[in-house]
Amino acid sequence: MSSRQATGGYDPSGIDLDAWTVLEAELEATIPHYDRVNTWMTFGQDRRWRAGVAAHAEPGMKVLEVGCGPGSFAETIRNVELTCLDPSPEMLRVAKKRVDAVRAAQGESPAAYVEAIAESIPLPDASFDRVFCLFSFRDFQDKRKGLEEIFRVLKPGGQLVICDAGKGNAIHGLFGRFWMATGVQVIARRITGEKDHPWKGLARSYTHYGTNAYYRKMLKQVGFSQVKGRLLWPFLMASRFSGVRPANPE
Ligand SMILES: C[S@@+](CC[C@H](N)C(=O)[O-])C[C@H]1O[C@@H](n2cnc3c(N)ncnc32)[C@H](O)[C@@H]1O
Repeated sequence: MSSRQATGGYDPSGIDLDAWTVLEAELEATIPHYDRVNTWMTFGQDRRWRAGVAAHAEPGMKVLEVGCGPGSFAETIRNVELTCLDPSPEMLRVAKKRVDAVRAAQGESPAAYVEAIAESIPLPDASFDRVFCLFSFRDFQDKRKGLEEIFRVLKPGGQLVICDAGKGNAIHGLFGRFWMATGVQVIARRITGEKDHPWKGLARSYTHYGTNAYYRKMLKQVGFSQVKGRLLWPFLMASRFSGVRPANPE
């Protein structure tokens, strides 16, 4: 019996496979309305948050996005050698169409696409300058394992940047849960026109998500240095974490 049974398969360290399989189906169901709901539920801040992550890359860098979804971030990052990873073939199909069209229009070569989970990345050690996770870390089955794999594929001196829902502490988390259970549900219902839209279930992944301090500690335990993790102003709805794979491990 799973120790997560009382919480439907979730806790801050990860998600049981059965619950994750349901979550993946819900994520795929968001695709047609994903960007619009995000923009409304974040008061338009999602674009600013994505730009804040992209700013961590420099031209020519090898960049891996873990959990690329339908390509909402990947289509915005310019002048890098991009690999998009996601476990969902449908997400990858939509992302490839969108991202490669934008890249072609900019005169850039197509991105690479990898169907996999963060916990088992089928890519060589020390091969990326940057790894970015936008709104996907919350969905990892095993967060520590995912971070270990990301650490492995980063070059020494390379950096991980995660942007996800914000949970400064338990009290702040209550406000987030309230917003997920009320405003987000109204927005998703209006935009999708469906009573049983997928954002009903997606609120679960926020409810059981850990605090910033919890994931900062995990990043350090995995071996990242220069670990940072804070809520993003003005609305404190998202957090951004970063950590570096040390160039000279002790
Ligand atoms: C909300 S979407 C994120 C989309 C995009 N990154 C963005 O900027 O909005 C979350 C994505 O994480 C993916 N995902 C879920 N579990 C994952 C895992 N264990 N490893 C990697 N990606 C995962 C899902 O398939 C989904 O496409």
